[in-house]
Amino acid sequence: MRVFVLTGAGISAESGLKTFRDNDGLWENHRVEDVATPEAFARNPALVQRFYNLRRGALADVAPNPAHVALARLQQALTACGGALTLVTQNVDNLHERGGAADVIHMHGELARVFCVACGFHWDAQCDLTPQSQCPACQTKGGPRPDIVWFGEMPYHMDKIEAALARADLFVSIGTSGAVYPAAGFVQAARERGIQTIELNMEPSHGSLYFDTAHYGPAGTVVPIWVADLMTAIKLD
Ligand code: APR
Repeated sequence: MRVFVLTGAGISAESGLKTFRDNDGLWENHRVEDVATPEAFARNPALVQRFYNLRRGALADVAPNPAHVALARLQQALTACGGALTLVTQNVDNLHERGGAADVIHMHGELARVFCVACGFHWDAQCDLTPQSQCPACQTKGGPRPDIVWFGEMPYHMDKIEAALARADLFVSIGTSGAVYPAAGFVQAARERGIQTIELNMEPSHGSLYFDTAHYGPAGTVVPIWVADLMTAIKLD
């Protein structure tokens, strides 16, 4: 069986990371357009870098919750019997990896990565960024920026994602409001292929009518239950 899982901020909420659309349109007290657009970075790189430095630093204070761990366990079990679980996340945290998942596709980038606007080199963030930071590849000062897909930018890995969607037998969406495309459209693509679609979320998402089945509640509870039920149904252990 090939399972395609899309996750959003809701899966990391119980680990202590805030979701996007439940705090008056503000994000850690900033308007999104002041910190999460290429224009914001051009206008005030120090503010944008400080914002992402703080968010990157905060990863050390959080841990994967039972939802991350259950998905990793399902991935390992499916892989061991010739199946697959493609894990696509809109999250920029690293909790899926720390929960044990492999080959996580970060379509909106990663807090733990940096890239250079001058030469396109990507690398693991070793320290906080400042407007004086230098690219290790081309030495451009001020070139390094957070490796985050900002509003108005193209999500990463779309070819790989579409290929996995085209092969999947089951589509599962976890902890996402379904407000941001292209991720919000994956469920419709899955339906057009006639595969089963499942939503696991705190509440019905914007796309809830496209799901065949839904389980509403905190991810840390509903995901492990769904994983255990699926593993029993397809006789995995
Ligand atoms: N368990 C499950 N779901 C939860 C939980 C929880 N403990 N807490 C909140 N949720 C649900 C909310 O009900 C909401 O539907 O998670 C969803 C989070 O939605 P958003 O805040 O919109 O986050 P997300 O869908 O990941 O946002 C998509 O928008 O701003 C951009 O790039 C950013 O990747 C992000 C994208």
